[in-house]
Amino acid sequence: MCKIISIANQKGGVGKTTTAMNLGVALELQGKHTLLIDFDPQASLSSYLGFINDNGDNIDELPTINNLMMSAIGMERKSEDIMSYIRHSEVNNIDYIPSDLNLANADCYLSGVISRETVLKRMLTNELIGNYDYIIIDCLPSLGVLLMNALVASDGFIIPVQTQKFAFDGLVMLENVFGQIKNTVNNKLELIGVLATMYETNTTASKIVLEKLKQRYPDKMFTTYIHKATEAEKSTNKQKSLCLYNNRPGEEYKAVAKEVIEIF
Ligand SMILES: Nc1ncnc2c1ncn2[C@@H]1O[C@H](COP(=O)(O)OP(=O)(O)O)[C@@H](O)[C@H]1O
Ligand SMILES: [Mg+2]
Repeated sequence: MCKIISIANQKGGVGKTTTAMNLGVALELQGKHTLLIDFDPQASLSSYLGFINDNGDNIDELPTINNLMMSAIGMERKSEDIMSYIRHSEVNNIDYIPSDLNLANADCYLSGVISRETVLKRMLTNELIGNYDYIIIDCLPSLGVLLMNALVASDGFIIPVQTQKFAFDGLVMLENVFGQIKNTVNNKLELIGVLATMYETNTTASKIVLEKLKQRYPDKMFTTYIHKATEAEKSTNKQKSLCLYNNRPGEEYKAVAKEVIEIF
């Protein structure tokens, strides 16, 4: 059965997109057919996958998740069939649905819509879900209506936490949104795990944050944590997943994928 997983933390720059991409590619490498959904108007995942060219224009004006959301609420006449939004990255050997900057208007165009937190969920048809073992949603850095759509559509979520100062800022609010969704529209939603990212072996800040995370989430920490490595940024620029060549964080993301398969 397909599992839908959101990668969520309303803080920016904590490793959400890096995690979505590399966990997705690692799952696919381990024989789990996976779809990535870019659900951030900044479209970093789409760019990592090679969707956006150097001018920032959408390749061939292909439809994005924003067109899908707008079609779903009748504001656009593009297809409502989610299958027609799926692209494939040859280099990374993975299917994905891209995003674009217009998704930033979602707060506005969803504001008058009935049951606006369930729009994405209603678009994830059985035909789509039946094709995949995992669907990974890369969330935006905000707690607004788009994050709610992602969590309402998901079976579980992963919180990447950068092992740096202020790592805990905002986690209470994220847990609060999780609690509200679980208690109302999506009671199957689970916190799959907290993933420590950008771990620096030589700094005490990293060690302290990791220890505090273990205390706060004793049963929910991934055993694997992701070390800080310049290769991560290079991989984004090369538009090629870390899991497709030899490097430390790439191996770590493969280990995270194994943990996900085991626990979820
Ligand atoms: N393990 C890592 N080591 C070093 N840099 C990383 C690592 N993971 C992510 N980064 C870099 O940190 C920045 C933010 O990561 P990103 O995944 O885009 O975070 P988010 O999606 O939460 O904003 C990017 O430039 C990315 O390349
Ligand atoms: Mg991101």
